[in-house]
Amino acid sequence: MTTVAGLSLGEKAALTTGRGWWHTAALPEVGIPAVRMADGPHGLRLQTEEEADHLGINESAAATCFPPAVTLASTWDTELAGRVGRALAHESHAHGVDVLLGPGVNIKRSPLCGRNFEYFSEDPLLSGVLGAAWVNGLQAEGVGASLKHFAANNQETDRMTVSADVDARTLREIYLAPFRRVVTEAGPWTVMCSYNRVNGVHASQNRWLLTDVLRGEWGYDGLVVSDWGAVVDRARALAAGLDLEMPTSGAAGPTHVRTAIETGELDERLLDTSAARVAELARKAAAQRRPDAAFDPSEHHELAREVAVRGAVLLKNEGRLLPLDPSAAQRIAVIGEFARTPRYQGAGSSKVTPTRLDDALTAITAAAPAATVTFAPGFPVDDPQANADGLRAEAVQAGADADVAVLFLGLPASFESEGFDREHLELPEEQLRLLAEVAAANPRTVVVLANGGVVRLSGWMGRVPAVLEGWLAGQAGGSATADLLFGAANPSGRLAETIPLRLADTPAHLDWPGENGHAAYGEGLFVGYRYYDTRGIEVSFPFGHGLSYTDFGYTNLRTAAGDDGLDVTVAVTNTGRRTGREVVQVYVGAPGSRVRRPARELKGFTITDLEPGETRDVTVRIPRTDLAYFDTAAGAWAVEGLDYRVDVGASSRDLRLSGAATVPGDQAVPTPDADSSLAVWLAHPVGGPALDGLLDKVRAALGENYPGEGSSRYRSVLGMRLSQIARLPAVPLNQDDLDRLIALVRAGG
Ligand code: BGC
Repeated sequence: MTTVAGLSLGEKAALTTGRGWWHTAALPEVGIPAVRMADGPHGLRLQTEEEADHLGINESAAATCFPPAVTLASTWDTELAGRVGRALAHESHAHGVDVLLGPGVNIKRSPLCGRNFEYFSEDPLLSGVLGAAWVNGLQAEGVGASLKHFAANNQETDRMTVSADVDARTLREIYLAPFRRVVTEAGPWTVMCSYNRVNGVHASQNRWLLTDVLRGEWGYDGLVVSDWGAVVDRARALAAGLDLEMPTSGAAGPTHVRTAIETGELDERLLDTSAARVAELARKAAAQRRPDAAFDPSEHHELAREVAVRGAVLLKNEGRLLPLDPSAAQRIAVIGEFARTPRYQGAGSSKVTPTRLDDALTAITAAAPAATVTFAPGFPVDDPQANADGLRAEAVQAGADADVAVLFLGLPASFESEGFDREHLELPEEQLRLLAEVAAANPRTVVVLANGGVVRLSGWMGRVPAVLEGWLAGQAGGSATADLLFGAANPSGRLAETIPLRLADTPAHLDWPGENGHAAYGEGLFVGYRYYDTRGIEVSFPFGHGLSYTDFGYTNLRTAAGDDGLDVTVAVTNTGRRTGREVVQVYVGAPGSRVRRPARELKGFTITDLEPGETRDVTVRIPRTDLAYFDTAAGAWAVEGLDYRVDVGASSRDLRLSGAATVPGDQAVPTPDADSSLAVWLAHPVGGPALDGLLDKVRAALGENYPGEGSSRYRSVLGMRLSQIARLPAVPLNQDDLDRLIALVRAGG
């Protein structure tokens, strides 16, 4: 670690606040250069200091606009996420950027969150694995990541002030889990604290979060930076472990820190540590700079196209309407403004100025040279003055006259953004009207969607045979859509979040967005499919769902439990006629667990590319640590000894094969005492058998009055404290029996 010995208090304090909007302070006299940062995450938002803003308002230099996290996540492809990370590093080097502000691995708690487009998934494993792959790719090329927003930043409503009130187990297993994985598997150069409070304490000054958990438990040794403007009390933030305040607070932050040290409120050694971390980051960044770096924008455009292809999810394809024949002399009506003016990224601090922009209309026209392509915008986008009725009538006519109608619908930019949440899941009214009329005029209507957060499909999906969810597809999304529509590419995207039937079904519905400054995470662990599947709630499309132009069969499931975890092997066959990719998903359930568990949880996945007729064995390795739950009584992770259920399938509801695996527990159950219930005693490995012996005495004494095991009376006795049972008049257990029993379990056998 770089030392800051010899620096004055003022110099050290100056290092711990930014200089300007995007830089850290430099101390050239002692060889500490400035670090340059930029948003992030799906492309470089490079602004001059004069034009700086963190709201996506001012201009930024042209950079490749890759599809945002929602789309990348739907690829389930870690190798691809790594390649995107590397490409982003090359662009960062070319522009002299040392740290790219991403990825965002916050969990999609509710589909309403305005920033869901920037986050990966409702599932912590998928979010963490993809986030780690992205960071590893970026940092392998010498550019630092900023893992954000730490933590429990799951809504935009009141994001600067709201307290996310989350119970310990849920926080660990759901909301912190992706951060933990990225920190431990990829070591991001920086971690960015969030704006909100976590259980009442601002993330920026939450010592438990920034120091005890992040550094103490996870071993993090990088730098913690504030989200832009998240610092409330600079001295408290520093004491909690927030090294760098961004952007600059001028003299305010450093003065506050100095005063706090001079008055003895803050220990100077804390400042030394944080200043040294800033100096260390600067040293690391300077050593990795590549001033001559260049990148090929066309190559990156092609990579953006690959992600858009891989991330699109074919939700529905009745009668195999798709793919369309690219060589047929057909009439294709392309309808919807988004075909000509794509909605391809989200709004806010992540907004990128693309190097190029493909539109689907041009790409479709080029992909089907024998077809007659007509276009009708169909609806206005964010333009209240436009004549929606006229646009609709023209589009419906175009649809009626065509052999196939391809209808581009989605959320206008004004519907979703960083900074606010949606209030409903509906597409705009005029689009829904258009859809109803086009679908009535042409039964061969394909809907292509562009949206960052999920939209409700249940009101209209039955009217059209095919739906392709393209998400926000980045700057090459138009070409990617044509690749998929005409079968140049075979869809392989899978949902990284459930599409619910209606808003009222969503797990956080009753607690959203909170009241009096508090958002109670009342649904607990039951986020996304963990909720829908455990409660058996019908959904439009389950987590993990996505169709292909071919089919896959699963056979021969094998599980092998070892000391390090679980290997799950299955044979997957491409049973159709096209080359395709299957995302094999492994879910684990814990029947008989002593704690509350979701019906099943994603514990691993893998991708396999198969030729028609080809069969391949794939193995998913589940490390033992991933089987652990957070035991709140012990305040530690614990693997429970159980016969786990292992389900392998193509979505959380399309489970093709099931097996079991016996995994030994790594923690003794808590030692019971006189006030523990009979049930707890019986479940204890030492106490259970010993007590069973004593119960013979009770059986003998009670004779016919002994409640038979399994009877309703017995079940109510199970809940009684042992001391209570011993005091029952006819029960022959005395204090000596109890003392002996307790001594036995304390001695461990
Ligand atoms: C956002 C961050 C972003 C930062 C800098 C904040 O408003 O929450 O994600 O990196 O601004 O633009």
